[in-house]
Formats: sequence, C-alpha cells, structure tokens
Amino acid sequence: MKQQFDSKTREVYGRLWRYVVPHKLFGLIAIIGMTATAAIEGSMVLLLEPLTDQGFVERNLEAAKWIPFAFVGIFIARGIAGFATEASLGWIGRAVISSLRRDVFRKFLTLPTRFFDQQTTGPLLSRMTYNVEMVAESVTSVVTIAIRDILTVLAAIAVMLYQSPTLTVFVAVLFPVVAALVRVLGVAFRRYSSRIQDSVGEVTQVTEEVVRGNRVVKAFSGHEYETARFEETDEKNRRQNLKLIRVRSLGVAVTQVIFGIGVAAVIYAASYQSFEDKLTAGQFISFFSAMMLMLQPVRRITNVNATLQRGVAGADSLFSIIDEQEESDSGTVEAGRLRGDVAFRDVCFGYGDENGPVLEDISVHVDAGQSLAIVGHSGSGKTTLASLLPRFYELDSGSILIDGTPITDYTLDSLRDNISLVSQDVVLFNDSIRSNLAYGQLRERSNEELERAAEAAHVLDFTRDLANGLDTHVGDRGVLLSGGQRQRIAIGRALLKNAPLLILDEATSSLDSKSERRIQDALNELMKDRTTFVIAHRLSTVERADQIIVLDSGRIVESGTHADLLAAGGQYASLYQMQFSDE
Ligand SMILES: Nc1ncnc2c1ncn2[C@@H]1O[C@H](COP(=O)(O)OP(=O)(O)OP(=O)(O)O)[C@@H](O)[C@H]1O
Ligand SMILES: [Mg+2]
Repeated sequence: MKQQFDSKTREVYGRLWRYVVPHKLFGLIAIIGMTATAAIEGSMVLLLEPLTDQGFVERNLEAAKWIPFAFVGIFIARGIAGFATEASLGWIGRAVISSLRRDVFRKFLTLPTRFFDQQTTGPLLSRMTYNVEMVAESVTSVVTIAIRDILTVLAAIAVMLYQSPTLTVFVAVLFPVVAALVRVLGVAFRRYSSRIQDSVGEVTQVTEEVVRGNRVVKAFSGHEYETARFEETDEKNRRQNLKLIRVRSLGVAVTQVIFGIGVAAVIYAASYQSFEDKLTAGQFISFFSAMMLMLQPVRRITNVNATLQRGVAGADSLFSIIDEQEESDSGTVEAGRLRGDVAFRDVCFGYGDENGPVLEDISVHVDAGQSLAIVGHSGSGKTTLASLLPRFYELDSGSILIDGTPITDYTLDSLRDNISLVSQDVVLFNDSIRSNLAYGQLRERSNEELERAAEAAHVLDFTRDLANGLDTHVGDRGVLLSGGQRQRIAIGRALLKNAPLLILDEATSSLDSKSERRIQDALNELMKDRTTFVIAHRLSTVERADQIIVLDSGRIVESGTHADLLAAGGQYASLYQMQFSDE
C-alpha cells in the first residue's frame, strides 16, 4: 500500500499524525482492540475445520462438543474488542476535530484584516464544519485500515497457508492486480474531491447571502435571480458528487469482478485438489472462509482511497489557514497609557489590489488631547486613514508615530488598548446589550462604570422601556435594534473603554438631529482630554474640531480650522455652504 501515498499525502498525514500523538493511550487501546479483532476473526475461520470434519463429516459429536462453547467465547471477546476499538477511535477522531477547529479558530483571531477582505465567508465557514469532519473520518479510516484490516488479512493468509499453501498461491496472484487498480483510481479521486469541497462552500455562500440579505431580496424581488444562482451552484455540486460516486463505484465494481474471477479460479483449483484427496471438507471450508474474510478488508483498502484523498484535501485546506501569515506583532514596546500625540508622516497605503494607492503622502500632526476631523467625499479614504492607526493594515511607506514612537514598535495589544473605535458599520454580537457594551476586556469593568457609559451614550434612554433592560438580547448582528440604537451601544462601548485615542467614524450618522446633539454633548465631554479622530459627513459635528483635513482621492487637499477653511473658500467651504443651505 505504501507506494500509493505520494509526498503530498505523506506530508498531510504526517501533520495530522501530530494531532493524534497526544492521545497515545486511546491509540494503544484501539491497537489492542483491532489486533484482538483480527486474531479472533482468524481463529473463527480456523475453528470451521474441526467443526466441519469432526462434527459433520465424521459425526464425532463427543469431540465436537466444545465447539459451540468456543464460539460463544469468541463472540464475547469480539464484542469487547469491537467496542474498545470503536470507542477509542471515536475518542481520537473527536479529539482531532476539536484541536483542528481550535487551531483554525485561534488563527482567525490573529489573521490580518486583509485576509478576511479577500476571503468569502461561506467556504471559510464550511472548512470549520464539513472539512474538519472529513479529516477526522479519514484519520479513523486510515488507522482502521492500517491496523485492523491489514491484520485481518494477515490472519486470513495465515489460516490459508496452514490449510493449503498451494491454494494460497492462487489467491496471492490477485493482489498485484488490485493494488495497481487502486493506484490508478487514487489519482482521479484527489482531483475530484478537492473541487467538490469548493462547490459545497459556494452552496453555503449563496444560502448565507439569501438568509442574511433576505430583506434586500424581498425589496428588489431577487427571488428568481437567487433561485437561478442557487440552482446553478447546487447543480454543479450535484454533478461533481456524481462524478465522484461514479469513479468510486466503478472502482468497487471492477475490483469485485476481478475478485469473482479469482474466487472461481480458487474453487476450481480446490475441487481439483480434493478430488485427489489432498484437502478435507473442513480444510476447504476453513480455507474458503478465510479467503472470504479477506474480501471485506481488501475492498475497504481499495475503497478507502476516496476517503483518504478527501481527507488530504480537507486537511490541506485547514492547514493552509493554519499556515497563513499572522498579523505582524514584532513590536516590543509596552505602550502603557499613551498621551496621544499622533503624527502621520508621508503615509502611503493601498489595499494591494489593482486599484492602486488609496492614500498618498498623508502628513498630519495631532497634539495629545486635540481633535482632528477628516472630511471628504465618499470613497476618499477617510475610513482607510483611521483604520491605519490600530494597525488593521500595514503601511506601504511612511510612518505613524504615537508619542514619538512608531506604532509598529508597540506590541499590538498594548497599542490597541489605547484606541477606542466607533466604526462606520457597527458590529454587535448575538448577546445581551450589556455584554455588547462590556465586550472583550471591558468585561471586567464594574457595573457602575458600565451604567455610566450607557447613560452617557443614551443607551439607557431606550433600554428603560425594555422588559429586560440592559439584558435584552440584540439578535444576530444586532438586528433586533434600530440603526441608531446600535450606534449608541457602539458609542457606549467606546466610552467604557476610556482609551486616550478615540476614532469616531460616522459615529452619529444614524441618529436624528436631536439625539445627535445630545450624544454629541457626551462625545464632546469625552473628547476633552483625548486625541480624537472624527469622521463625519455632517459638518455640524466637525465644526468644533481643533483641526480639519479634507481628503480628495486619498490626498489631503485642505487643512486648518473651521474658520480657516471657510475663509479659504475651497472644497470645505462649498461643502459647508451646501449643507447650510439644506438646513
Ligand atoms: N477592504 C478594502 N479592500 C479594498 N479596497 C477597499 C477596502 N476598503 C475600502 N476600499 C477602497 O478604498 C477607497 C477608500 O475607501 P474608504 O472606506 O476609506 O472611504 P471613505 O472615505 O471612508 O468613504 P465613506 O465616506 O463612503 O465611508 C475606496 O475606493 C474603496 O473602494
Ligand atoms: Mg468610511
């Protein structure tokens, strides 16, 4: 069997093996169980000889009396061995699933933002479920084949040799043929199985989008489009699975036919032998049963290649995540509590796609405790600029310094501990309002602090009317709340964090003017002794900023205070005029 494992398979299983190693004890139990099973199967077919010859041919019932009792003993032993094998293999399988999942999950937490930008969610999620199961199934199968089935085959061969060496030679002829077939089929399996996984991901993806975007689908009558899209991916998946089934069952069928011919040859040879009185009836029955005993394990050895190759493909897709480059965290400076003096120096940045740079030559300095407003058309790069501060992305060139130290010199955690962020698209977790406010490390904050933050962010305004107050669940991604309520929770979360640097990216865009004014007061209070980056389309919220920059296609085109910019009569002034006349 060895030579059909190419280097890829060996490499992947070598890596999987490391997940199995910690469970040596269960491995040992399984090995003992499987060895016992093989030995028991072997002795059962061996027993058929005295049973037949003494019990039925010679009618020597006295000598054959012990045989039924032996069978009972054998079946009890087989039951115990089978249970031990299944249970411990199951244990190992589930353990491998768990540790693989944990490794992938841990990886998700440390991968750069760019990775998630480039991946589609569906296939990524199906790796955590479908692929992981497939890997475990493959590990268990491989172990079973490698030990139990091969030992059973060996036991059967031993019995066959014992009963008739000549006939055994006939059977031995079959094996090279089968092995050759197995190798040819194995290559085909690999090709199909990796493609099948991808299309399962697509099925998940389309479904997920319909579930998530069900309102858009309804509002724009997207039913036909989505149905067509789903049917197309589903059909692709069906076809590919069919291909796999065809290849696999063809393999089984061909193998069986070859076996059938072989068996016929053996029967022919055996009957010829016994004609010359070389083989007793019992010996023949025992020999024949041993050969039949071999059939199943051999078929499994042939068939498992499909599972084996699926396992390789599945494990490979998991390992490729585990091997992804993590966020670079080479800084060694523990930031402590920063003062918040921020300097951007000739910062250039692009998302690394064909669209080129998004930010060019950004230089701006914000003194500790001051506020910087970033204004500009949609798509001008405001959110991008703000996302560089917590190092969601790495710069192409230039540098960002906080308190005179490049942000790459700080450890990631200590840097991010210093930054509160209210992002443009509020992300809430499917938990209570309380847990969403006190998310992550904020969990340790006292109840008073939490309620003060909730009060300041006007979260209490709407939780007061709710039966469960702050313990109300927000639903998947916060769907049970209004956009403004979600935003207030995000602001409350940022207030609670109480970090020296604050980023407000359209933090109040979903609020009506009255609520916005009130929250703005709370934010103004908060901004007093903090370095703040405010991004807003509504200029009324940026008027008070100590410094305003206007971005246009990733470049700073104007900067100064509100009064300066109005006087200059440039882009800012005309934007302001426009909004002013609206209001
Ligand atoms: N994750 C991303 N991957 C690739 N390109 C991106 C990504 N995010 C934004 N972009 C591109 O970068 C440019 C700037 O986007 P950004 O989100 O910074 O704009 P913005 O000024 O915040 O706009 P808005 O006012 O609409 O929020 C856009 O052209 C956008 O297409
Ligand atoms: Mg934005």
